Amino acid sequence: MRSVEMNTIERSIYGDNLQELESTMQFLVDEVNVVREKMKKGQDTDPVEHLIFRIKSEESMREKCRRKGLPETTDSALNVIHDAVGVRVVCAFVSDVYTIRDHLINLDNCEVIEEKDYIKHAKSNGYRSYHLILRVNKKVYAEIQLRTISQDTWAALEHHIHYKKETTADDALIISELKRCADELASTDISMQTIRDLIMSSKKQNESI
Ligand code: GTP
Ligand code: MG
Repeated sequence: MRSVEMNTIERSIYGDNLQELESTMQFLVDEVNVVREKMKKGQDTDPVEHLIFRIKSEESMREKCRRKGLPETTDSALNVIHDAVGVRVVCAFVSDVYTIRDHLINLDNCEVIEEKDYIKHAKSNGYRSYHLILRVNKKVYAEIQLRTISQDTWAALEHHIHYKKETTADDALIISELKRCADELASTDISMQTIRDLIMSSKKQNESI
């Protein structure tokens, strides 16, 4: 009886690697905070609006393996799929996204596996964000998404609509309206960045007087 019960206990898809995933995630979060503190000193304000991180749940990882036609193994979860560790950094301004990105890609123990600049090259639906896949300590993969507050707002809304979509309304209209919102938010981001740059340069000028 006991051995039957033991056999019914499912092994984690992550095998014995959960702790290593968690420490990798913590390392990346700490590094974001290191550069964040440096930036705070330079510009007097916190460049990070919020920072979220997670280990992909067992259930989501298994679902992703199935969706991609991969066997539900530890190898798939750790080495084929690269977002078991996920960190999202939401910044005030577009330039902050790139400053944090530069810090992360220059870390000695991090190798860039993939970079997708959906800020310079938005997806056709309007999605904007900077995606980075890093391999930490030659072993653990992690996905870092960096985006502005506006980009995050749009992505959250789009995600919500996408998953609640049992609608009879005109899909083409929804898609084009969402795209229009994304483009308007992007143009506001550029204006906000310009305002911030003006404030920073006038502050520097005042300091040098
Ligand atoms: P995966 O197989 O999931 O890794 O996909 P991929 O590598 O083709 O995707 P990509 O790097 O473009 O996106 C990965 C993640 O970015 C997704 O899981 C979402 O969190 C986010 N993302 C990408 N595109 C969109 C989008 O159009 N809308 C929203 N809301 N999120 C997106
Ligand atoms: Mg991906």
